[in-house]
Amino acid sequence: MHSSMGPSVKQNSSLAAGIDQISFYTSPYYLPLTLLAAQRGVDPNKYLVGLGQETMAVPAPDEDAVTLAANAAHPLMHRSDPHRCDPQHIGLLLFATESSVDQSKAAGLFVHKLLKLPARCQVIELKQACYAGAAALRYATRWAQDNPHKKALVLTADIARYELNSPGEPTQGCGAVALLVSANPRVLALDSSSGFYAQEVADFWRPNHKQEPIFDGKYSAKMYLTAAWNCWQHYTQQTQRQLHQLARVCYHLPLTNMACKAHAYLMTHISSHKPNEAQLMQQIADTLPYNRLTGNTYTASLFESLTCLLDRCQQDLGNQRIGLFAYGSGCMGEFFSAVVQPHYKQHLLTNRHRKLLNNRTQIGYDTYEAWFNNRALQQGPDCTFAASHAGPFRLAAIKQHKRIYVSQAPAL
Ligand code: HMG
Repeated sequence: MHSSMGPSVKQNSSLAAGIDQISFYTSPYYLPLTLLAAQRGVDPNKYLVGLGQETMAVPAPDEDAVTLAANAAHPLMHRSDPHRCDPQHIGLLLFATESSVDQSKAAGLFVHKLLKLPARCQVIELKQACYAGAAALRYATRWAQDNPHKKALVLTADIARYELNSPGEPTQGCGAVALLVSANPRVLALDSSSGFYAQEVADFWRPNHKQEPIFDGKYSAKMYLTAAWNCWQHYTQQTQRQLHQLARVCYHLPLTNMACKAHAYLMTHISSHKPNEAQLMQQIADTLPYNRLTGNTYTASLFESLTCLLDRCQQDLGNQRIGLFAYGSGCMGEFFSAVVQPHYKQHLLTNRHRKLLNNRTQIGYDTYEAWFNNRALQQGPDCTFAASHAGPFRLAAIKQHKRIYVSQAPAL
């Protein structure tokens, strides 16, 4: 039959697609929140217990969203492993970030060069606060169904920066997660239905002229819960699935206690009973430890919690369905789900992630404050940056407003 819509395009929408490989990266430097608490005259338990944060990853002067993302993606393509991805197979690169380095050029183009990706590759940057990574994953999954012989690279990377002395300061952090997305994925196959919620609100935003966001913390937490509940209702209407059918649930983690609040909120509203501590933690405990050490990583935070779950969960999650809640201030939320693939553990970079977090260098308060204040240099026309111990790629200089990235020791 001839279609009035023009030549028919073969759709492979029933083909399983999703995350084939997942790699997490963060700065090798951190500040213990006990040191920040002492400096601010705050009881350390407010941060450790009240927020659920222990240390925050602090970016060195030669790190930015581009280097974090490239360092996360590098092992997927350049480690000595027969299962690694050939860079020539990447046909789509989506970079989700809210701490990009340019108002016009996609940050992914710098990564494209550093990773030696092919010229026949579509490169786009996406933004909607912390939510954009989930949108990029959905887009890449559909693309992979239509391009089963190629792979997409989804990058989520951010530096979460708040003003010194502000309530957001102890939730700062930085990090990146790179997702290789393909048909017949080896780690996680995405379900096609999602629940969404969008509402224009002023809970957290960053005007173009500002380096730090403007935010109303309590209101932002309230909007997070509103979005979580509405997304859940939409998801369950679409899929008829119930919360107890999900083996685990990963949340966007601006602070780990936000997941505890959101999960308790869903459980209480669904069953009209407040869960006890053990019931609450059963579905989320394994998703929290990495974020507790890095702080907020904005777009990467949900996928950092997913990486943590897959790396740390003692139980075999193969063939089990998990839920994921993505939230970006402003606001946009999505609740979606995915099935963990059998033998997924063979394809994780668990040891690498463990080593990365265990080998970080502690910095003192003065270094943290100096690096925080010097970050303005990255906005300027010319500067050279001393080499830190950051991963294979670093920002070496800015010359006449052009960013110069270099590759240092392979560090694999
Ligand atoms: P705050 O005013 O610093 O803290 O705000 P608080 O006074 O509300 O205390 C926090 C908790 O610590 C409370 O517990 C206290 O009781 C407890 P809760 O009522 O929450 O259960 N506490 C203690 N516990 C033990 N021992 C003590 C002690 N003292 C107090 N001695 C807030 C906290 C999260 C609002 C703040 O850090 C903030 O504004 N953060 C930035 C915004 C944010 O993270 N919002 C989260 C939702 S929005 C989101 O996720 C989007 C985002 O990622 C951005 C994007 O999308 O791009 C942020």
